[in-house]
Amino acid sequence: MRILFVGDVMGSLGRTMISNYLPKLKQKYRPQMTIVNGENAASGRGITEKIYKKLLQDGADLITMGNHTWDNREIFTFIDSANKMVRPANFPAGTPGVGLRIVQVNAEKLAVINLQGRALMNPLDDPFTKADELVAQAQKETSNIFVDFHAETTSEKQAMGWYLDGRVSAVCGTHTHVQTNDARILPKGTGYLTDVGMTGPFNGILGMKKEAVIDKFITSLPHRFEVVEEGDGLLCGAVLDLTLDGQCKKIQAFQVSPDHPFMD
Ligand SMILES: [Fe+2]
Ligand SMILES: [Fe+2]
Repeated sequence: MRILFVGDVMGSLGRTMISNYLPKLKQKYRPQMTIVNGENAASGRGITEKIYKKLLQDGADLITMGNHTWDNREIFTFIDSANKMVRPANFPAGTPGVGLRIVQVNAEKLAVINLQGRALMNPLDDPFTKADELVAQAQKETSNIFVDFHAETTSEKQAMGWYLDGRVSAVCGTHTHVQTNDARILPKGTGYLTDVGMTGPFNGILGMKKEAVIDKFITSLPHRFEVVEEGDGLLCGAVLDLTLDGQCKKIQAFQVSPDHPFMD
């Protein structure tokens, strides 16, 4: 099974990159499953129903989320019916939405799990214990298990990769918005990438207008950050190939940007 994973779609430029390039990327890589992280799709903060549907229409099969899941309050009106969305599974019990979905992919099944880290992030349930629980649940149906680990620190992400090595097909990180150059296959067959990177503005700071961010670093005064809505775009993703027994045999990160133009 081939999986295409695209990182945090950020605002209108991110959505435009998806509309413009996701169909082309699907034509190029021919994935059986396309997963897109949509936590920043609505102006950097959360997602709306219209945007959720548009991402699916543009070619996403499943949307993962993160710490910005609740930022746009509209989420509460549609998350219960959004059966192609997973949000971090270690949110407190009783939170709307689900953190694990098992989808049919031709003759196979794929489990997609979304978890959020705790290092330098808001407190949540332990993602490692939660992963044990969900992996055991998923393994009853399939050995194809993809984990989007939405976390801040490289150490917590590496820890999750090694912790799940041999039990899941892949641990791919999101949230930092900067793609890391460490795609590899761990010894027991789990594909690993610390962060897949962002899909949004090419000339901002993590997708935000750079002036306010720089000024905040200099002055320490409060600033309101706004998403860059015009200019060049960036799309960050990864392609993973799984064996029939759910191991990762290939993982490759890629970018589409003015520095890395799309090639057929
Ligand atoms: Fe993000
Ligand atoms: Fe995030």
